[in-house]
Amino acid sequence: MIDRAAVIAVLDAIPDPKSGQGLVASGLAKGLTVAEDRAGFAMEVAVSDAALYAPVRDAAEAALRAMPGMTRVSVILTAEAAPAQEPRRTAGLSSAAVDQTRAKAPVPTDRPAHVRRVLAIASGKGGVGKSTVAVNLAAALSALPRKNGGLSVGILDADVYGPSLPTMLGLSGKPGYEDGAIVPHEAHGLKAMSVGLLTGAGDAMVWRGPMASQALTQMLTQTRWGTETRPLDVLVVDLPPGTGDVQLTLIQKTPLDGAVIVSTPQEVALADARRAHALFQKVNVPTLGLIENMTGDIFGKGGAETEAARLEVPYLGDLPLTAAVRQGGDAGTPVVVAEPDGEIAKRFAGFAEAVAKALNI
Ligand SMILES: Nc1ncnc2c1ncn2[C@@H]1O[C@H](COP(=O)(O)OP(=O)(O)O)[C@@H](O)[C@H]1O
Ligand SMILES: [Mg+2]
Repeated sequence: MIDRAAVIAVLDAIPDPKSGQGLVASGLAKGLTVAEDRAGFAMEVAVSDAALYAPVRDAAEAALRAMPGMTRVSVILTAEAAPAQEPRRTAGLSSAAVDQTRAKAPVPTDRPAHVRRVLAIASGKGGVGKSTVAVNLAAALSALPRKNGGLSVGILDADVYGPSLPTMLGLSGKPGYEDGAIVPHEAHGLKAMSVGLLTGAGDAMVWRGPMASQALTQMLTQTRWGTETRPLDVLVVDLPPGTGDVQLTLIQKTPLDGAVIVSTPQEVALADARRAHALFQKVNVPTLGLIENMTGDIFGKGGAETEAARLEVPYLGDLPLTAAVRQGGDAGTPVVVAEPDGEIAKRFAGFAEAVAKALNI
């Protein structure tokens, strides 16, 4: 049993480089939790101080780890842009909107260990089939014929607004911990982690931007996605829909190698896809392709192909609106896995080939 007072004493022995006071005394250690054999807290600093505080985080982590009986330590450093010195008045725009137009210094999270490529699946709005594409594309990537027994693939559900991976992959229960790392669930040959598994189903969580990015950072870097001898070839990240502050922060903090944007055929959804592409361009993440989902008599077809040409990004193809796709999601077995020889699986195999080629894996 770790003693809270002992943890505080250990942290106060480490000086805050700015105030010279201990980490707890200076108020730097936020949300300190101490339980049984573990301790953790977060430090929120200005972007310009991120480099100054990185060694402080490391020192705090090392000092806590050295305490007898301590097995799990989590110290999170988040860097937020400092608020403007003076309140600025601009006609009609909220300060958040103004903020978005300003160049920000991204503070990317360290790359997750033993992960070769990180691929984002994004959409400008919700309900277009982003998660459906994420799970099926992950399954299709892992089924790609490769010399040494296929690609090893993970999927990370970072959709703080509507985590759906637990349902779509049939997962439940909190992930385990082993040697200080989160052990991902495994489903259909995929390593999987979801923000929904951390909060518990039914928890109405309201995520502030910093909290969301903190959770994402933790799931990215503290999960054992791969090992030295068996690295993960690709980690597919299901991002929250939209192009607002939360999404911008998340993509700035995530070391992404490319993005796939999902859209339905209608003009309104395509305008959102355009904004999503602009967001990735802003942070120099290549858009590897656009997928048009739910094509058919109801929503039409072809809008995304035209849009991809206009944006000069690859068009990967379309997915028809079909019952089997939805049923697979509801039942926890992606259609690509349930019907590996079906038409939908064939399409996903094509998307997976194109994406794997673009990612050079
Ligand atoms: N091509 C499709 N055909 C039929 N249903 C689909 C298709 N794509 C997605 N769905 C269904 O639409 C709903 C929303 O999809 P989802 O992947 O959860 O969207 P998002 O992650 O963008 O919010 C789900 O019930 C899903 O099963
Ligand atoms: Mg979703």
